[in-house]
Amino acid sequence: MAKKIEIPQHIAIVMDGNGRWAKDRGLPRTAGHQAGEKVLFDIVEAAIEFGVKEISAYAFSTENWKRSPEEVKFLMGYSREMLRTRRDRLNEMGVKINWLGRPQRLWKSVISELEEAEELTKKNKKLTLNMCVNYGGRAEIVDAAAELARDVKRGKVKADAITEKTLEKYLYSPKMRDVDMFLRSSGEQRTSNFLPWQSSYAEFVFMDVLWPDMTPKLLWKAIEIYSERERRFGSA
Ligand code: IPE
Ligand code: IPE
Ligand code: MG
Repeated sequence: MAKKIEIPQHIAIVMDGNGRWAKDRGLPRTAGHQAGEKVLFDIVEAAIEFGVKEISAYAFSTENWKRSPEEVKFLMGYSREMLRTRRDRLNEMGVKINWLGRPQRLWKSVISELEEAEELTKKNKKLTLNMCVNYGGRAEIVDAAAELARDVKRGKVKADAITEKTLEKYLYSPKMRDVDMFLRSSGEQRTSNFLPWQSSYAEFVFMDVLWPDMTPKLLWKAIEIYSERERRFGSA
């Protein structure tokens, strides 16, 4: 009898390889981002079908500001347009959109688009889509530590009573599940500062496919790989 497939409840995705995909075709890097956009929605649709409950998508990192002003500008405008054109369909699909990231530097119009999408989809329960825009894992922990320090100073929290649960409450999205499967496309085998706190016991699956070539079938393959792993969480 075939082994039962274990479905990861929360998948974190580093959607990497857009630039290389475009370069292979002699196109500008932005054409790769354009091609990668639809893929995320196909993946979300498939994930719902497979029974996944949460997806965190790395759309723009706090380090991506190092890119050329043209590419940054494109990515900002693009996140905004993408949310505007996709949010109604995502809403119909029962997707709850949630933004994780730092407001500093992020375009105001992108923030308002993210907030509108959150408001529109806040009651949805099928799948939570964490859009990580201007997100950095270290930045998230720094922001949490700073706010926690303020609360200690205000006398709301006792420093000696701080636990993992306390710090977790100060992260961008305290209700988020821990990551079960951490998926990165493009063949690179690194985390690039994505969800370090939440992924401390995640299973890592690195796929040798550029993001615009990612498909629901390959997502299923990644889930099969995940399903073969033995998770121990420190136990014997
Ligand atoms: C990932 O693709 C998308 C973003 C970082 C926004 P890249 O743009 O990093 O593509 P490569 O890694 O250069 O191929
Ligand atoms: C990570 O990819 C960020 C996103 C996918 C948004 P990068 O392409 O920026 O990461 P590095 O530079 O290869 O580590
Ligand atoms: Mg990259």
